Amino acid sequence: MVYKPKKSLMTEVISGLKKIQIPAFLVVCVTIVTLSPALLLAGDNGPCIECHTKPDKLKVAEKAKIDPVTGEIKVLSMLIDEATFKASAHGGEDFFCTDCHQDLDGKDVTEGHKPNLKPVDCITFCHDDPAEEYLQSTHVKLMRENNKDVPTCKDCHSGLSYHYTSVGEKSPRDVPRGTDPLHRKLTIDACGSCHQDYLNSYKNNAHGQVATLGHTTTDVPVCFDCHGKHKILNSSDPESKVGKERIIETCGNCHANANASFVKHVEHPQIKNIKYYKTLLAAVKNARSDPGNLKKVIKNPQTILCIVFVMYVGILAFTFSAFGLHSLLSWFAVVRDEYRRKEHGDDEQH
Ligand code: HEC
Ligand code: HEC
Ligand code: HEC
Ligand code: HEC
Ligand code: HEC
Ligand code: HEC
Repeated sequence: MVYKPKKSLMTEVISGLKKIQIPAFLVVCVTIVTLSPALLLAGDNGPCIECHTKPDKLKVAEKAKIDPVTGEIKVLSMLIDEATFKASAHGGEDFFCTDCHQDLDGKDVTEGHKPNLKPVDCITFCHDDPAEEYLQSTHVKLMRENNKDVPTCKDCHSGLSYHYTSVGEKSPRDVPRGTDPLHRKLTIDACGSCHQDYLNSYKNNAHGQVATLGHTTTDVPVCFDCHGKHKILNSSDPESKVGKERIIETCGNCHANANASFVKHVEHPQIKNIKYYKTLLAAVKNARSDPGNLKKVIKNPQTILCIVFVMYVGILAFTFSAFGLHSLLSWFAVVRDEYRRKEHGDDEQH
């Protein structure tokens, strides 16, 4: 869950204020007013936005920086787009620039500030749960086993953004909300870039067809609605959102009638995936030595779909070829009859 330190602090202060008497309240007010202006600025985005939206005030509007992780040199814009920031997941009233840029917390910045700030740490103070869940998921484990680069918080969350700064970069600050339709659409392609088979089968099914038509509001499921965001597990894991124990709840978020038979619906029909046919053939071949395995393979809904698909294609192929053969033969018959009739006619003339 999103951690909002300032909000809980504020609500505590407000409820505290209600309890104390007016004189005490006045004392607090006087203390606050006499405190240094720097402390007051600590919870105010005003000065940051004031400078960082105006190129003439800012003077250094672009800056080359070395990425601390990859070592890549990038030109970054120091200008921020206020509207984009406010629409982002961190743009709420109770969110302050200094929550993330902690170097500047409590500093007076009216005259500017030191140049190279510490990289923002998403994990330590705010998001340690997603970090832990993410790193322990089978997804990350399998990605590592398959020698795929495991993306970091900032890779995914700013990489998936469709906002660009004035120098054409995506800023990790402008993380869109998970309810933003365009952002949801981008996440489908992001998952799909590594899972082509599952992307195709999703797109050929009810949900994906609707999403492909451009409806990606929260009532149409995208990959992460079913599989989860960070703790992505294989469907055979009981804790998986699409595992036996939780799938009714997952589908039930949108389908009030979801029950054990409803969730038998196959979300990713793999009828074009040769792997399932090979497994079936191998199981049939070894049917004598291992009948249990054949039973298990045949019970798999994907195998049933494959068999139905083959039968369907088989019936179509049989019908059309029989029809073709029939037409061909009857055409031969017509030609033959015509030929015979002519021959007969010729005979009669003599
Ligand atoms: C008086 C203008 C001014 C104000 C006010 C200001 N900044 Fe800046 N900021 C700058 C300039 C100029 C730079 C370019 C840094 C440099 O000198 O390389 C910068 C750079 C930055 C950077 C990038 C630093 C880096 O490592 O490259 C961050 C992050 C930043 N500011 C955040 C903030 C925040 C948060 C606030 C409010 C608490 C704020 N700024 C207020 C002028 C300002
Ligand atoms: C949710 C955390 C968060 C908030 C809130 C936030 N920033 Fe940032 N900001 C980042 C991250 C992450 C970076 C990328 C650099 C890094 O990783 O340290 C960044 C980078 C910057 C940069 C450097 C240019 C860039 O795009 O990399 C500036 C300037 C900046 N922020 C200003 C601000 C100002 C001004 C505010 C308040 C209006 C603000 N930030 C609020 C997380 C945040
Ligand atoms: C593999 C890509 C990926 C990585 C890496 C990743 N996330 Fe996410 N995260 C997502 C997706 C997808 C969503 C759901 C859509 C959205 O909200 O953008 C999400 C949602 C979130 C949310 C919204 C809250 C919620 O649970 O609904 C938070 C907070 C978050 N991520 C934090 C993090 C942090 C912190 C890290 C680093 C430890 C991280 N993420 C790493 C993909 C990723
Ligand atoms: C950078 C590539 C990459 C991205 C992006 C990615 N994955 Fe994966 N994913 C993998 C790899 C590699 C595996 C390991 C299994 C494999 O090779 O198919 C995996 C495994 C999985 C598994 C478990 C499969 C199994 O066999 O146990 C699921 C479910 C999954 N991913 C869903 C997602 C979802 C949902 C997203 C988007 C939020 C996503 N993936 C994004 C690379 C990726
Ligand atoms: C409506 C829910 C739903 C959506 C949306 C969805 N999936 Fe799935 N996905 C499932 C279910 C249920 C399974 C397990 C049964 C199966 O294999 O069909 C599954 C299986 C998988 C697997 C195989 C690993 C495993 O856990 O069995 C991968 C990989 C995967 N999905 C990726 C994706 C990707 C990528 C997307 C988006 C393009 C996506 N899924 C969208 C429900 C969904
Ligand atoms: C985020 C909401 C959401 C989730 C989660 C979701 N669905 Fe759906 N589902 C929809 C919408 C919207 C449609 C309507 C698409 C259409 O009109 O064809 C739909 C259509 C369907 C259909 C087509 C038949 C029909 O009623 O039109 C089936 C079957 C289905 N979903 C099964 C599932 C299963 C199984 C799961 C869980 C693995 C699931 N859905 C999860 C929103 C969702």
